[in-house]
Amino acid sequence: MSDYLWFEGIPFPVIHYEKKTIEESRDKFVFRDEDIVILTYPKSGTNWVKEIVCLIEKKGDPSWIQSVPIWDRSPWIESQIGYQLLINEEGPRLITSHLPFHFFPKSFFSSKAKIIYVIRNPRDVLVSGYFFWRKTKYVKFPESLTTYFEWFIKGNVAYGSWFEHTRAWLSMRKRDNFLLLSYEDIKKDTKSTIKKICDFLGKKLEPNELDMVLKYSSFQAMKENKMSNYSLTTKDVAPNGVDLLRKGVTGDWKNHFTVAQAEAFDKVFQEKMAGFPPGLFPWE
Ligand code: A3P
Repeated sequence: MSDYLWFEGIPFPVIHYEKKTIEESRDKFVFRDEDIVILTYPKSGTNWVKEIVCLIEKKGDPSWIQSVPIWDRSPWIESQIGYQLLINEEGPRLITSHLPFHFFPKSFFSSKAKIIYVIRNPRDVLVSGYFFWRKTKYVKFPESLTTYFEWFIKGNVAYGSWFEHTRAWLSMRKRDNFLLLSYEDIKKDTKSTIKKICDFLGKKLEPNELDMVLKYSSFQAMKENKMSNYSLTTKDVAPNGVDLLRKGVTGDWKNHFTVAQAEAFDKVFQEKMAGFPPGLFPWE
């Protein structure tokens, strides 16, 4: 049974990660002003936003997203393979990361590189994570949702506590080079979100190009695109395959939490996320 790779108190997946890379990315990676980062706590809609940004870059042309695996188009800076790809890539880079704030490359903070940070109702993050991780050998196997629920509340899951991750990154939300999005808002009005991302990145799309971005980043299109649906995940990671595009809805936690779990979660959320302005979290 796999456990976690513990680095300075945070659990990381055991495959594709090593302490040296996490340390090196934090201390040595040099950001370029034109770099774009998609940053999330896992299962918040990372790949959806990656697909949208890739399509924006190509003005809606799907050739790139249909020919190159999603993890190579925007590699994970903290993973062994991703880090090597990124340091050897010339020009502006599209970077993905799940890193907690204090592990993020220091050079970012003195650069003009841009971060798109995506949040999602942590209850849905929990459920999505439970179904995803248990099909992989990346992490300690959660026997049941009850077990995973307890680990999640304590932060003993991949990338640590959702609450700490989110609190720390939200401290950046008023910066010009930081765009805060939520899975719930993207779902409610994808087109407006695409426009918002374009404005943030200084890109202009014609109406037909915008429609193409919308079309090729839809749940169904991504589910059918083998470069984006994780069907290329290797057997050593997921012997029976993974289901990245599982349901793609908001509020699925209501089908899985008991009343007691829902109440316990509310209490923890209130305690840990106190102090943020009302309306910041669109699911509350
Ligand atoms: P569910 O497991 O709730 O279905 P990440 O990319 O951060 O790992 O997040 C995965 C979650 O985003 C999954 O949630 C997945 O279905 C959802 N997702 C991915 N692409 C999507 C899309 N185009 N539209 C809606 N949801 C999407």
